[in-house]
Amino acid sequence: MHIAPGPRSASWSELHSHAQRLARVATRELFERDPGRFERFSRRGAGLLLDFSRQHLDEVVLGRLLALPDAAGLADYRDAMWRGEKINVTEQRSVLHVALRQRPGERLGGETVEREVLEERERMLAFAAGVRSGRIAGSDGLPFSLVVHIGIGGSDLGPAMAVQALAHHAHGAPRCEFVSNVQGCRLADLLAEADPRTTLFIVASKTFTTLETLSNAHTARQWLHDRLGAAAVPAHFAAVSLNHRAMDTFGVHPDYRFTMWDWVGGRYSVWSSIGVALAIAIGPQAYLAFLDGGREMDAHFHSAPWEQNLPVLLALIGLWNINFRDLPTLAIVPYEERLGGLPAYLQQLEMGSNGKSVTLEGRATQWQTAPVIWGGAGSNAQHSFYQLLHQGSPRAALELLLPAVSSCGNEAQHALAIASCLAQAEAFMAGYSSEAVRAEFEREGLPQEWRERLEPHKISPGSRPSTLIAFARLDPPTLGRLLALYEHKVFTQGVLWGINSFDQWGVEFGKRLTEQLVASVRDPSGQPAGAEGVQKVLEQLAEWRSARS
Ligand code: F6P
Repeated sequence: MHIAPGPRSASWSELHSHAQRLARVATRELFERDPGRFERFSRRGAGLLLDFSRQHLDEVVLGRLLALPDAAGLADYRDAMWRGEKINVTEQRSVLHVALRQRPGERLGGETVEREVLEERERMLAFAAGVRSGRIAGSDGLPFSLVVHIGIGGSDLGPAMAVQALAHHAHGAPRCEFVSNVQGCRLADLLAEADPRTTLFIVASKTFTTLETLSNAHTARQWLHDRLGAAAVPAHFAAVSLNHRAMDTFGVHPDYRFTMWDWVGGRYSVWSSIGVALAIAIGPQAYLAFLDGGREMDAHFHSAPWEQNLPVLLALIGLWNINFRDLPTLAIVPYEERLGGLPAYLQQLEMGSNGKSVTLEGRATQWQTAPVIWGGAGSNAQHSFYQLLHQGSPRAALELLLPAVSSCGNEAQHALAIASCLAQAEAFMAGYSSEAVRAEFEREGLPQEWRERLEPHKISPGSRPSTLIAFARLDPPTLGRLLALYEHKVFTQGVLWGINSFDQWGVEFGKRLTEQLVASVRDPSGQPAGAEGVQKVLEQLAEWRSARS
């Protein structure tokens, strides 16, 4: 395999010169020079339209960027991932989330992986169908009306975001809610209004050792036990984990246990049984359509030439903004309220995967890696953080997601969302020049004194880059395509930066420290130690610091 070239290579220094050249040209000038800019800088694939014409680049830059994947050996890495090679080198693991989306006969990841994935999928979907129909019911024989999914990070964000995104496909399914925070108040609020006889808990934890998930799961089990008795507990708990012994100990009924594999990273696991709440919410058929959408994007990523390849283009544009245009943050704004969970999901996917500063060879990177991801649903975002994007000094890149039709049938209002999205993208690109401001003052007949005072405040510099990701409608296959688009974008960027996108030692370190402090916040009988506990934690931290110095 090749090594990612990095900033010292000829192609990176050439791109730096082009960034300097283009810094003197406004994006609106690039549009004026080239009326065919949209055709030149947009691509269609796997049911999506990627319009990057408002990015601050030209054909020369795009050409140079498109040389990077080959220089970094992207095709080799991609094929190695598909073959199930242990590309997560620090944990010696394969990375096979693409195998979770396969159909029978594809042998993705090999025969054993294919068989296990398909068998497990069938079991999980049968369970989901049973819960939806009421065939699988609570201890009193009543159908479940509330499903509480307990997990955190990758065992929460994917299904939580997807259930919200596809709420319009639920059609009478039990209500699915998600609990993650260790602090416990979300669970308390849900339990305050839940009927134990009709509540199903799903404990989703790859390791079944995670503090947040286990503490919420134990609280939920105690709540159910107190209301329905010990014998009722197994009928009300399902679990997903690769730790079968822990599921046993917790008392999960063997038929309600689903497995995972060490070759699926948490943030890539919504396609596995971790997505069981999604399957319950939208039903097996729609869930399969979701997987098929991801699979369609896999095929596109695997076969499209780089210049037509949507995940690769998205990755290259991101790299251009981060490494050459000094735009380290990326705002994700879906103009579809149901996709409101996407920024948080992508925070984990992108920052959890590529938030690294060491290369595969263990050397410090000399280039920035993952963008800081933030955002929120449009048009709400316009009324909160867009002011900074238009005129603030910290500049950011944007990705705007836009469906052509409404997910709730309110086409009249959705047309307004489309107008809002495109107007904002145009405003970010073109800005509001001093000439335009002066012309406005002239039209309004503003007194001279006010013109001088107001002009600097009204100018918007423009050249704030955005990419538009448009699609027909938000449905299960489209959501699958979008998530796989981002997964492959992240993979591509990881290869281009020469880092391992699939470990997360920083998070592990933080987890370990928390575990060591847990004893201090409890008294010897295991009860919360209150203010005394805080004091003990502070002492413990002081001890650690002096031991380190
Ligand atoms: O956030 C760190 C992490 O280890 C994620 O990778 C994982 O999805 C999450 O914690 C939860 O872990 P688990 O699924 O083992 O409970």
